[in-house]
Amino acid sequence: MKPQPSHLETSLPAEVMQTLSEGTYIQLVLSKPIEKRTSAWKKVMVRPVILKDTLHFQIALSKGQQEVHENLLPAEAVQRIVELWADHFREGYLYTQVADSHFQKTKQGTVRLKTHAPTKAKPLQAESHNRSKQYLIPEGTPCAFLEAIGVMSEAGKVKSAQYRKFRQINRYLEFINDIVPGLPKTGELQIVDFGCGKSYLTFATHYFFTEVLQREVQITGLDLKRTVVEHCQSIADQLQCRGLSFQTGDISQFDVSLQKCDLSISLHACDTATDAALASAIQSEASVIMAVPCCQHEIFQQITSKPLEGLLQHGILKEKTAALVTDALRSLALEICGYRAQVIEFIDTEHTPKNLLIKAVKRQSELSVRDLHELVGQYESLKGQFGIESFYLERALGARFRELCESSR
Ligand SMILES: C[S@@+](CC[C@H](N)C(=O)[O-])C[C@H]1O[C@@H](n2cnc3c(N)ncnc32)[C@H](O)[C@@H]1O
Repeated sequence: MKPQPSHLETSLPAEVMQTLSEGTYIQLVLSKPIEKRTSAWKKVMVRPVILKDTLHFQIALSKGQQEVHENLLPAEAVQRIVELWADHFREGYLYTQVADSHFQKTKQGTVRLKTHAPTKAKPLQAESHNRSKQYLIPEGTPCAFLEAIGVMSEAGKVKSAQYRKFRQINRYLEFINDIVPGLPKTGELQIVDFGCGKSYLTFATHYFFTEVLQREVQITGLDLKRTVVEHCQSIADQLQCRGLSFQTGDISQFDVSLQKCDLSISLHACDTATDAALASAIQSEASVIMAVPCCQHEIFQQITSKPLEGLLQHGILKEKTAALVTDALRSLALEICGYRAQVIEFIDTEHTPKNLLIKAVKRQSELSVRDLHELVGQYESLKGQFGIESFYLERALGARFRELCESSR
């Protein structure tokens, strides 16, 4: 009879155990549940949180829409993670500031560990403080729009099945909070949410600017879907959200001459709709642009590269490469147009696993000829290396972009 692998061989790798014991990690994820039953937990996410001035680890166990939290002291958390790993999961990821580790139980009854360069930044500020005190929309305080979308009760209690959405909305608001210094300091702010969909985050944006920052705003949520837009408008009317309205329309037809835009938001707008939103924002000289791209088809259909043939021969790798190249071209185009662009990790939402945020803030002074020359060189070289003939954002920006590129030669 074949010997059964000992429990020890499938224990957490020593390197992982050491990091867990030291408590020096940003996040731990356990996935690939061993049990197939629908009642079994499908995923576990662990992150450090400070509760009542003491370090805890929050263990979030999820299945479908349900999420349950356990806030444990460091030693208890290690114990709990060891049990969850031993009995329930086959794969794990551990993120620290120095490395990402991926570990997996193999069919041979061992655990394989691979380590890569780090991809996650330090936890956001709110995670290292008392949760209820730090959330921009605090728990326990009634919030009309969260009540309207079923996240909170009338008394301000977050419904347990909605905790994940509550956290996502608050984390999104931390990104918005970060860009406030880049916006005009006084007067009414003009904000457009391109491809707003069901608009949880549009309502959250309105709440943040009007209730938290006490600013005057005109926020427009734009979407192709008439019924969704009408529904959002009816909620805005019912909640008497001053300065929030919704329009049915195509982003590519958005007329920047009719509407000013200080802050442009486009979250998960499909394919080239992200480029249309970026082009409108650039043309209306928005102070800040936030775009979380979604699926990407335009560049996928064009990319080719002899030296990188090995990378592009598998559909999934080609798809990921096309998305990365597109986002790199987008951020270079933004830089060429006078923005300081950053590409950073965004929150996971329920729509899509795509979570790269392109954040661009208008520069106060013009780019030097040398910097422009360098950026245009990088942009053209990237296009050339991947055989890209045509790029939506560049076409949408038209003559202005071409002139900028030519002026750098
Ligand atoms: C995945 S949803 C995202 C909704 C919302 N931004 C969010 O992140 O919660 C994408 C939305 O973009 C809208 N959309 C896609 N292309 C569009 C276009 N060209 N013009 C306007 N809306 C568009 C879709 O109708 C859909 O509601």
